[in-house]
Amino acid sequence: MITTDIEFCVEALTNGELVAFPTETVFGLGARADSALAVDKIFELKQRPKDHPLILHCSNIDIALAISPYIPDYAKSLAENFWPGPMTLIFKRALGDAVNDEAVGGHDTVAVRVPSHKIARALLEPCGFFVAAPSANRFGRVSPTKAEHVVQEFGDDLIVLDGEQSQVGLESTIISCVEDTPSILRFGAITNSDVLRVTNLESKPLTQRIAAPGTLENHYAPSIPLYLVENEAEIDGLTDIEIENASLIGGSESKRPFKLVKMVSTYEQYAHELYDFFRESEKIGCKAIVAIKPIAEGIGSAINDRLVKASNSKEEAK
Ligand code: TXA
Ligand code: MG
Repeated sequence: MITTDIEFCVEALTNGELVAFPTETVFGLGARADSALAVDKIFELKQRPKDHPLILHCSNIDIALAISPYIPDYAKSLAENFWPGPMTLIFKRALGDAVNDEAVGGHDTVAVRVPSHKIARALLEPCGFFVAAPSANRFGRVSPTKAEHVVQEFGDDLIVLDGEQSQVGLESTIISCVEDTPSILRFGAITNSDVLRVTNLESKPLTQRIAAPGTLENHYAPSIPLYLVENEAEIDGLTDIEIENASLIGGSESKRPFKLVKMVSTYEQYAHELYDFFRESEKIGCKAIVAIKPIAEGIGSAINDRLVKASNSKEEAK
C-alpha cells in the first residue's frame, strides 16, 4: 500500500511493523532497530541471510555519532561535511552497547547513515529509535528508486511511504571508520576525492576483512543479461544479442534500432535513471540490456561498480 501519511508510518514503525520509505539514494525497508522481532521481519521478507548487517538510520548527526564510542576524527569530518546525505559510516561497537545484535547481524561493527531526503527525515525525526533499513528489494535484486518498484518487489501489503524518484539513484557510499584511515567499501555519490578533500586521508583497503556482503560479485542484478561496452562502436561486436529485443543506456545518441534507449547527458543522470531503466527493460520484455560504461570518475566509479556486478550475473540470469 503506497501512502503519503507520515504519521501513520511513524506509528507503524513504532508498533514494530515494516515501512518502506524513500531516501535520496534508494528506497529502504525499515524496522525499528531496537526490536529483534521487528528487525527479523526485514530478513524474512527480503530473504536475506541473517548475518548480513543492516544500516541504522536517524535524522540527527549527533545521535548518529553517539552510536559508538570509537569515532576517529576523520569520521567526524566526514559526518560534518556529508551528512545529511548519501554516505554510510561503519564504526567499531563497544561491548554491551545499546545496539541490537540482530540489526547488525551479530557483527562487532555498526553502520549508520543520516539521509537528506525530506520525507525520510520527516519520518525519522519523530522516531525515538534508529530505523534499520536495507534497500527495499528482494535479496540480490536491483534496488528500488520509486515507490512502485517496492510494490513490484513485495506486493501491496507492505506499507510504502511515497516520495519522488530517489535523486541519486545508487546506494550510499559505505566508508569503514574502524581503522586509522578511512576505507571505502562501496562506491557511491560521495567519492574518493571527496573523502581525501575533507580528511586529507586517502581511502585505503582494510587490513582486516570485515563483512560487507554488498560487495558480493553478483549483487544489483536485473533478471535479464546485461552487456557492457566501452563505446557505441563496440555494440557491433555483441553478436549474442538481437538489437530489436534489447535496450541501451548511456552515450549520447544511437542509430541502432534498440527496443528501448536511454540517453544520458551527465553521470548524475545516468545514476539517477539506471535502476529504473533496468526495471523498465524487464517490464517491456527486453531479452538483453546493453550499457555503455562511464569513465571511472566521480560517480562514474559507482555506476561502473554496479554495472560490473550486475553483468556478472549474466550466466545465472539466462
Ligand atoms: O543507500 C543505502 O545505503 C540504502 C538506504 C536505504 O540507506 N541502504 C542499503 O542497504 O543499501 P543494504 O542493506 O542494501 O546495503 C548495505 C550494505 C550491505 O552490503 C551490508 O553488508 C553493509 O552495507 N553493512 C551494513 N552494516 C555493516 C557493518 N556493520 N559492517 C560491514 N558492512 C555493513
Ligand atoms: Mg541492498
